Amino acid sequence: MEQNILIAYYSWSGNTRSLAEVIHRFVKGVLFEIEPQTPYPSSYDETVKQAREEIRKGFKPALKSKLETVEPYKIIFIGSPNWWGTVAPPVASFLSMYDLSGKVIAPFFTHGGGGLQRMLTAVKQLCPKSIVLEPLVVYEEGVHTAETSVSAWLKRINIERYFGNP
Ligand SMILES: Cc1cc2nc3c(=O)[nH]c(=O)nc-3n(C[C@H](O)[C@H](O)[C@H](O)COP(=O)(O)O)c2cc1C
Repeated sequence: MEQNILIAYYSWSGNTRSLAEVIHRFVKGVLFEIEPQTPYPSSYDETVKQAREEIRKGFKPALKSKLETVEPYKIIFIGSPNWWGTVAPPVASFLSMYDLSGKVIAPFFTHGGGGLQRMLTAVKQLCPKSIVLEPLVVYEEGVHTAETSVSAWLKRINIERYFGNP
């Protein structure tokens, strides 16, 4: 069990959660679901509309629960669905909330066909003092058969080099 690993993610329809769970099976650590204080509507169309407005304005919603501190974590896996080409607003809230200087950030994203778009740029802007690794990008249905790509990605980013170095 790697005590210095946090896997934090936001998921509206479950894909990013599934991917987070696969990553968790490989690296262990603490799994944390980012949830906005006010949940998004259950209607897809309404959520798409609300998300467009929020992203246009750079709105960062209040979150339902917070980690007291991210201090113990050296490696933070951060997961988001692609929303309008960027990260979902609750993920932007989460990344803005803590001092992530010097942390290793491993982003993982799911999307509906758009791919990476501006998601990595957004993460880098939100944590400019972190070491942001190459992201894992998975098409929505792909999350259910993601073991091979997760395992290959973890090797590619050589995540083990950061294990055990607080
Ligand atoms: C509000 C909203 C906006 C979205 N915008 C995009 C987009 O711009 N590009 C894209 O490829 N997929 C887009 N999608 C699809 C999601 O990124 C995709 O279904 C993702 O896997 C959902 O993850 P989740 O199940 O963890 O919420 C959007 C979905 C929602 C709900």
